Amino acid sequence: MTSQKHPATLIPGDGIGPEIVDATLRALDALGAPFEWETCVAGMAGVKDAGDPLPRATLDSIHRTQLALKGPLETPIGGGYRSSNVRLRQEFKLFANVRPARTLIPGGRFENIDIVLVRENLEGLYVGFEHYIPIGSDEHAVAIGSGVNTRVGSRRIAEFAYDYAEKNGRKKVTIVHKANIMKALTGIFLETSREVSKGYEGRVATDERIVDACAMQLVLNPWQFDVIVTTNLFGDILSDEIAGLIGGLGMAPGANIGQHAAIFEAVHGSAPDIAGKGVANPIALMLAAAMMLDHVGHRELAGRLRAGIDGALNLDGVRTRDLGGKADTKTLTDAIVARIKNG
Ligand code: NAI
Repeated sequence: MTSQKHPATLIPGDGIGPEIVDATLRALDALGAPFEWETCVAGMAGVKDAGDPLPRATLDSIHRTQLALKGPLETPIGGGYRSSNVRLRQEFKLFANVRPARTLIPGGRFENIDIVLVRENLEGLYVGFEHYIPIGSDEHAVAIGSGVNTRVGSRRIAEFAYDYAEKNGRKKVTIVHKANIMKALTGIFLETSREVSKGYEGRVATDERIVDACAMQLVLNPWQFDVIVTTNLFGDILSDEIAGLIGGLGMAPGANIGQHAAIFEAVHGSAPDIAGKGVANPIALMLAAAMMLDHVGHRELAGRLRAGIDGALNLDGVRTRDLGGKADTKTLTDAIVARIKNG
């Protein structure tokens, strides 16, 4: 551990973003976490404050700090501006999306879940190559979309997943694809991942699943999975399913990792249905902050943050509504801060 201060960009985001970011900052302050924040706007907040969902000043800040903690950003559906999340991933070439899911509250539908999903973050069906073909008076008569997966991108994400597995004491990587139908688009990913897996033989085991079977098996027997590596859209869908195994989106953190920058966030969105009510669960973003502490080498602080969360949930029994409790954001944060300070 070093005593160096880490400049980092802080994006409160939209909807419940500012509420859970405030809660997370309180937990980080209680730990004495060595971040020097540059607060910036993006998403709807960016449009309101700077006329841009991803203002230049925000991008410049992340280029400088190479490290960010981000609240959820609202994206208009079916029209309007392109997702700022997707643009951020592309601007900083954040090719790996890492989403660990671990059971924190015993007694749920699934006990002892411990799965890490590694999602390719830049390619696949997320590239946004889409258009309509008009027929007669119907401007939207036909919709066409293309995906792009490259050998280089597939190798980079597969190597990341195997490397992650090895460094974190994981035993197995499951390659998830749909190469039986999308023979080129996800075939290249499967073929390349198999090649990469050979370099890890004897150290990390390899398994393969077609995405639909994987989705079913995650519900029937999730304990067979350890690390999953998959393409962009499948990763998006499966990570929400996996979050459901551990008590929902309020418990699922994510890291977007590139060679020169890393952005940490909750898997969930801006939750407009509960925004401003003070009832959001801040744990997903706090766990993302723990991943950020790990990333900069402060494993001990990250461990204390996770222990504080565990203590508040399981020893104090303080839980937000999404977890079946009655606590609001502040009460849960108070309990976590008290555990950090006293623990
Ligand atoms: P959502 O994740 O915001 O909400 C889905 C459901 O989960 C809602 O009922 C919500 O109340 C609940 N929920 C989510 N987080 C919660 C928390 N921390 N505590 C308690 N309950 C929580 O997904 P939705 O409604 O599809 O998206 C809303 C907006 O968020 C959209 O504009 C979408 O584009 C954006 N979004 C942004 C993401 C990001 O910035 N990384 C990720 C996903 C969506």
